[in-house]
Amino acid sequence: MLVLIAAVGNQNQIGLEGKMTWRNKEDLQFFKEMTLNNKVVFGRKTYLEMPKLTGREIYIVSKKSNELNTITDFDSFLVQHKNDDELFFIAGGQQIYEQALKYCNILLISRINYDGNADTFFPYFCKSMYELITYTMNTFTLEVYIRKDYNNEYDRNNR
Ligand SMILES: NC(=O)c1ccc[n+]([C@@H]2O[C@H](COP(=O)([O-])OP(=O)(O)OC[C@H]3O[C@@H](n4cnc5c(N)ncnc54)[C@H](OP(=O)(O)O)[C@@H]3O)[C@@H](O)[C@H]2O)c1
Repeated sequence: MLVLIAAVGNQNQIGLEGKMTWRNKEDLQFFKEMTLNNKVVFGRKTYLEMPKLTGREIYIVSKKSNELNTITDFDSFLVQHKNDDELFFIAGGQQIYEQALKYCNILLISRINYDGNADTFFPYFCKSMYELITYTMNTFTLEVYIRKDYNNEYDRNNR
């Protein structure tokens, strides 16, 4: 099972010059709570720019192998895990979100009140394909999107 997790500005900004442009402690804590003791997938560019994460099993998407868990065939990975019982959090950046979005049954989007510059963005997606639940946090809004066809597909594959 693939769960996408992202922090997104008002115009779908996600990053600038390899980094996130805001620092939202509450959202970082949310990310930690969700991903702790789980498997987390990052694109190589995001992975290289971020601080080392502990307590999580990190997978890096890259065409070049390295010493960590590297996913070189991302398409096959997405197809394989779309509906299985192994949980992976898909954690960006832009290239990774673009390719993974249609395979993720749940999207956890922290909507940050940010209107500034960016050079990477969260991709467009068709909101009517999802049920949306929103939670008002202190410093952001959490948008939880659940694919409407998720339960049907899950039942079919696990019959
Ligand atoms: N706001 C958020 O929640 C959030 C979350 C994560 C990242 N970000 C931001 O996003 C930005 C980075 O995004 P990005 O799009 O530039 O880079 P990215 O998605 O992090 O990484 C791109 C790299 O992933 C690898 N890759 C992509 N597709 C692949 C495939 N099909 N097969 C094999 N490898 C593949 C390639 O690595 P190789 O070149 O090694 O082959 C590619 O250069 C940063 O600014 C970061 O801060 C924001």
